[in-house]
Amino acid sequence: MIPSARRMIFSLLLIASPLVHAAQSDNMTLGIEIIRAHFQGAGLVPDLLANFTPTALLTATYTGGGIVTPGQLLSKSRTQTAPNLTITPANMTTLLNKEYTLVMVDAWTPGYTDPRGQICHWIVNGVTIQDHTVLTHGSVQVEHYRGPTPPSGSGPHRYAILLYAQQFPTVPPPQGFPIQNNVTGFCHLTDYVKASNIGPLIAGTYFTVEEGVATFTPSPTSPVVTSTLLASGPSASIAGTVAQHNGAFSSSSNYLTIILAPFLWLLAL
Ligand SMILES: *[C@@H]1O[C@H](CO)[C@@H](O)[C@H](O)[C@H]1NC(C)=O
Ligand SMILES: *[C@@H]1O[C@H](CO)[C@@H](O)[C@H](O)[C@H]1NC(C)=O
Ligand SMILES: *[C@@H]1O[C@H](CO)[C@@H](O)[C@H](O)[C@H]1NC(C)=O
Ligand SMILES: *[C@@H]1O[C@H](CO)[C@@H](O)[C@H](O)[C@H]1NC(C)=O
Repeated sequence: MIPSARRMIFSLLLIASPLVHAAQSDNMTLGIEIIRAHFQGAGLVPDLLANFTPTALLTATYTGGGIVTPGQLLSKSRTQTAPNLTITPANMTTLLNKEYTLVMVDAWTPGYTDPRGQICHWIVNGVTIQDHTVLTHGSVQVEHYRGPTPPSGSGPHRYAILLYAQQFPTVPPPQGFPIQNNVTGFCHLTDYVKASNIGPLIAGTYFTVEEGVATFTPSPTSPVVTSTLLASGPSASIAGTVAQHNGAFSSSSNYLTIILAPFLWLLAL
């Protein structure tokens, strides 16, 4: 009984370790699908970006709260100091050891585009990553962080935080480029990306800030239904175990249950 139980534990460990690995990569795949769906559902694709195919997950943390969930409504006061950012590649073998450009833009309310472009709130060249933390000090602050100040009644503004890979160590904006003014803050994101030769876009997230009560009805946005994503995505096998609330994952304990299930069964013997 004892030796066979030991053998069983050993073989279960062998089975469980690829399961842990598979769960993590499925989870990352799911995370990527969810943020993609949020950008689509909120109209950021195509309002701001022609397409969005991230290869890593970006998380932002503002003072006085946890990780910002995609599309989360934040108060203006909470967002006036730059957030901390972390990034995790979908493929764990990817090294995030290059230099990156960080951009935060106000992509306006859903369904509205402005001929003047977006409002640029933050542009940093030469960003580095250490232990998943996005480091902005020691970088080139093209546009210092300025917190959202949407006009009262103008609806829920979508603030996208985007991380681009850089082609060169630093890519200053071309002479005379609007964002060099550092005053009005208007910029065309796609023009900037093109002119500064940055890319590809590797990750992004977004949140919303609204001041007062909207005096119009913004375009409806589509909620992200995780179960649909799972049914059509590669992680369909874990569909039953993953639920999503307000854009947040609530799956960790379920994963643990899947991974630990054989051991729980063993304990019951
Ligand atoms: C799954 O992803 C979420 C959010 O990205 C994370 O908090 C959680 O620890 C991950 N779980 C596993 C098993 O990797
Ligand atoms: C951001 O990171 C710094 C350094 O780790 C820490 O002191 C600070 O409390 C963090 N701020 C937030 C809002 O998480
Ligand atoms: C991760 O990247 C490595 C190296 O590019 C590649 O060989 C591997 O197939 C990738 N894994 C997945 C799950 O995409
Ligand atoms: C740009 O604006 C930021 C914040 O408003 C300020 O700290 C910085 O000195 C300005 N840079 C220039 C070159 O004017």
